[in-house]
This record gives sequence, C-alpha cells and structure tokens, in this order.
Amino acid sequence: ASSTEVDISSIQPGQAIKAIFRKQPVFVRNLTPKEIKEANAVDVSTLRDPQTLEERTKEGKENWLITMGVCTHLGCVPLGAGDGENRGEFGGYFCPCHGSSYDTAARIRKGPAPKNLEVPEYEFTSDTVVKIG
Ligand code: FES
Repeated sequence: ASSTEVDISSIQPGQAIKAIFRKQPVFVRNLTPKEIKEANAVDVSTLRDPQTLEERTKEGKENWLITMGVCTHLGCVPLGAGDGENRGEFGGYFCPCHGSSYDTAARIRKGPAPKNLEVPEYEFTSDTVVKIG
C-alpha cells in the first residue's frame, strides 16, 4: 500500500488543501482556534456519527484535521478545501451533490450522508510533514 507525504508548512489557519491518497482526495485543514471551539462546543450525543474532535485528530495537534475528501453519501468530493469555496452552514465542508453539510471536525450535521468524513491513518513525520497511509 502506498502512502502520501504532504508538506503542511504553508497551510495557514483557516486554510485547507486537497491532496491525493490512493487515487482519492484527502483534505488537510489547519483549523482556527474559533473552529476548534465550535467543534468542541457540540453535544456529541446529538450527532448522527458521534465523535469528538479529539478522537478525530492527534494529541497536541488538534488544529490539523485530516480527512478523506469523499462524501459518505455517494462519494462526491465536498467543497471547502479550496479558496472561497462554500463550506456550508456548519463551516466545515459542503457536498453539493445532495446537500450534506459537515462541521469543523468534518462530522456530518445535515443532509443524507450517514457518516463523518473518514479519517485515514496518518502520522506526523516532522513538524511540517504528515505521512498519510
Ligand atoms: Fe454527498 Fe450525496 S454524495 S450528499
């Protein structure tokens, strides 16, 4: 199985980039303190796919949200990992195919998608490089 290395040094808070991992898009996002706060303010028991931001990120690096860029409904690529793209009403990602809205932890909040955007296996190999897969 192949892995993908991503240089995260130029991803500013609030920005997300799209990389490719095993021929699928993967989103690497540097959350702002406000986005982290919003994610942590949610009552997890109300979620369709209950997970905390902490469970979806690495300890000490909870600003780095790394998820597949594949909607869990029917596999479209959600918007939000490019400049000026619509991030939907929960500020994370928005899938325009059938209107699924994900929050700032990429958890499904509205629309037909059943699951949160998948978090792939990854590790930080340095402060500026993340190895996905
Ligand atoms: Fe994303 Fe249907 S594929 S909402």
